[in-house]
Amino acid sequence: MVVTSTRSPVRSSVGLKAVMAVTGIVLVLFLVAHMLGNLKVFAGQTSFDHYAHWLREIGTPVLPGVWFLWILRTGLLVSVVAHIAAATALARRARAARPVRYAHRKKVRGSYAARTMRWGGVIILLFVIYHLLDLTAGTLNPVGDPSRPYANVVADFAPSRWYVTLFYTLAVVSVGFHLRHGLFSALRSLGQQTPHGERRARMVALLFSVALCAGYLVVPFAVLTGLVD
Ligand code: HEM
Repeated sequence: MVVTSTRSPVRSSVGLKAVMAVTGIVLVLFLVAHMLGNLKVFAGQTSFDHYAHWLREIGTPVLPGVWFLWILRTGLLVSVVAHIAAATALARRARAARPVRYAHRKKVRGSYAARTMRWGGVIILLFVIYHLLDLTAGTLNPVGDPSRPYANVVADFAPSRWYVTLFYTLAVVSVGFHLRHGLFSALRSLGQQTPHGERRARMVALLFSVALCAGYLVVPFAVLTGLVD
């Protein structure tokens, strides 16, 4: 059946892909900023705690108190929800376009990252919920004092809690895989669609994702190994 209704541009497949791209960029910018902020842990307790307090004061006195932080949080939440909604709509549409399954499905496997986008996304979402309860609200943290983020981080990744570092590692690697494929798809759409252009997009996406993962993982491993205490 050919659907000829006038859909809103956002709900067209190109519109949905644009939503994926724009919200993806917002999330990547957050990931880079958050990673750089976390590295302040190497500058010591005073510097890290000062940075965390400063985050709560950006925009003052023009905006009262933690308003700016809440604007950022709202932007992040809207991006996450729109990213997931657009991904789900695109996946449904792809399935609806082929209502009858292939009798002999050809093994078009794609890269490991491409095949794990959906479940990788679910793991990341579960991780973020755990992470907020751990390091933002403090509910699941041994120290759990939102005004002492350095102490929270050090307590979190203590050697006796090696399983927390393991869980963070799995989550950060999932973020890396997710990012590698998302970035590669975006760069391929925007760039030269030649074998050379595709190779370059693949390489840029891989290097960026590895750098981001490394930037995140040095923090828990520095605590685990006693480099930061
Ligand atoms: C080893 C890696 C990570 C460490 C050490 C870490 C550390 C922290 C800390 C200390 C906070 C609390 C900041 C504060 O209250 O001042 C925080 C908040 C947060 N982190 Fe992470 N983080 C890590 C990885 C990630 C990843 C991979 C994501 C996303 C996929 C993420 C998303 C968030 C979010 C959304 C917040 C809440 C920001 C807010 O609204 O205040 N973090 N993180």
